Amino acid sequence: MALRLGDTAPDFEAETTDGKIRFHEWLGESWGILFSHPADYTPVCTTELGAAAKLKSEFDKRNVKMIAISVDPIDKHRGWIHDINETQRCIVNYPLIADPERKVSTLYDMIHPNASDTLTVRSVYIIGPDKKIKLMITYPASTGRNFDELLRVIDSLQLTAKHKLATPVNWRPGDECIIVPSVSKDEADKLFPGYRAQKPYLRYTPAPRPTNT
Ligand code: BEZ
Repeated sequence: MALRLGDTAPDFEAETTDGKIRFHEWLGESWGILFSHPADYTPVCTTELGAAAKLKSEFDKRNVKMIAISVDPIDKHRGWIHDINETQRCIVNYPLIADPERKVSTLYDMIHPNASDTLTVRSVYIIGPDKKIKLMITYPASTGRNFDELLRVIDSLQLTAKHKLATPVNWRPGDECIIVPSVSKDEADKLFPGYRAQKPYLRYTPAPRPTNT
């Protein structure tokens, strides 16, 4: 059955460029981002993996472990990573899963036969510390992802996990947030004193100060 938001991210054992892992154990208490690539030695993927490597410190700051997957075997991954480091001027500093039998790609519904029956699409899964799927995005093979947008989404997910808030269109960290509709007026008065109500259902409040917990 297709995966949905709120489902437990399927656990698996796999060979990666950092050795064998069991996914849930590898995630530990962290958030995770799992992103798929159609195949090794493909140009768009090469740029994506390089960009992701350069943003690793940003993912680390947010306690998010990064892991990529492509259906090719581990030896091919190693040669490709050499090329990525050379052409993108980076060090690929997170594991790349080898999935030649397509076990993980099938588990995560990353092969869309009407797009291609062999290659994976560009799926992104963001997984919370509770191992639940918090976000899924699917791009076609021909369109590279925007990793700055993925960091922005993680900032929103982490904020809204802790507070009774949502984030409006094009929100950036530090911008005003929206009080979720399930919060009554009395509760909003207590939790967000001085909030701004444009309409009874459209209530803004300053972004809470970030904390490390
Ligand atoms: C790529 O990663 O460059 C790519 C893969 C499949 C189709 C188009 C582009």
